[in-house]
Amino acid sequence: MGFYEYKIEFPSLEFRVDQGEEWVIVHSEDSAKKIFLHDYARFYEIPGLYEEVIYKRLKCISPQMICSLLKKELQKNEEGPQNLRALDFGAGNGIVGEYLKQKIGCDVLVGLDIIPEAFDAAQRDRPGIYDDYYVMDLSQPTKSEEKKLGMWNFNVLLTIGALGFNDIPTRAFINALNMIEDDAWVAFNIKDKFLSKNDDSGFNEMLYSMVGDSFRVLKIDRYCHRLSTSGEPLYYYAIVGKTVKKPK
Ligand SMILES: C[S@@+](CC[C@H](N)C(=O)[O-])C[C@H]1O[C@@H](n2cnc3c(N)ncnc32)[C@H](O)[C@@H]1O
Repeated sequence: MGFYEYKIEFPSLEFRVDQGEEWVIVHSEDSAKKIFLHDYARFYEIPGLYEEVIYKRLKCISPQMICSLLKKELQKNEEGPQNLRALDFGAGNGIVGEYLKQKIGCDVLVGLDIIPEAFDAAQRDRPGIYDDYYVMDLSQPTKSEEKKLGMWNFNVLLTIGALGFNDIPTRAFINALNMIEDDAWVAFNIKDKFLSKNDDSGFNEMLYSMVGDSFRVLKIDRYCHRLSTSGEPLYYYAIVGKTVKKPK
């Protein structure tokens, strides 16, 4: 059954909830299910629901935004967008992978997500987009998982809409950065407040400790990632950079 057989109800505009607590009610002929926006497994169960709610109704532009920033940075580079071997970390049902392939192109594209429902949805909604797709928890990767990922020699890491809010934690993101090549492209977004000085999510600290040492920021832009369910803009930073080549 597709989403077009459902009616989607949003909370009324004055009903403001925190971003991590947002929900919609999905009505079908004989049921009404309240689904939290961060309950990805339930979202992905219904084909098209994620695209309809996040991308169409709440106007999320992050895949376009970050892929186009990455493309601009790649074009400044002598080699241009060539020989790209990309890891889409927090890949969900493949929207970002599809953008990357269409707008930039890459030789290798691998998806990775923590829940099997994301893998199933990517296979169902965008078959053939990924060369491979792993269900893994990179907070504590096993040696064999590290080896599997290492074999791809990734030189692009993309993480879109997946950092913070009990999604990808700092440890898993740092582990992913350590598994890609030196001098690799990294493009991600993160809610603005997670980079503010007073925030205790750890992302601000992580970015400051990375910068200069293992990561060079090439471009950082604040933009509206999407609307909240009560219609307010949610601002994020889009960041594109490169891992720093370690001295031999
Ligand atoms: C908001 S969705 C974004 C999906 C896709 N990147 C997009 O922009 O459409 C966040 C995704 O991150 C995944 N995720 C959450 N925590 C994760 C973790 N620790 N490791 C890998 N993926 C994770 C979720 O399962 C979900 O598919």
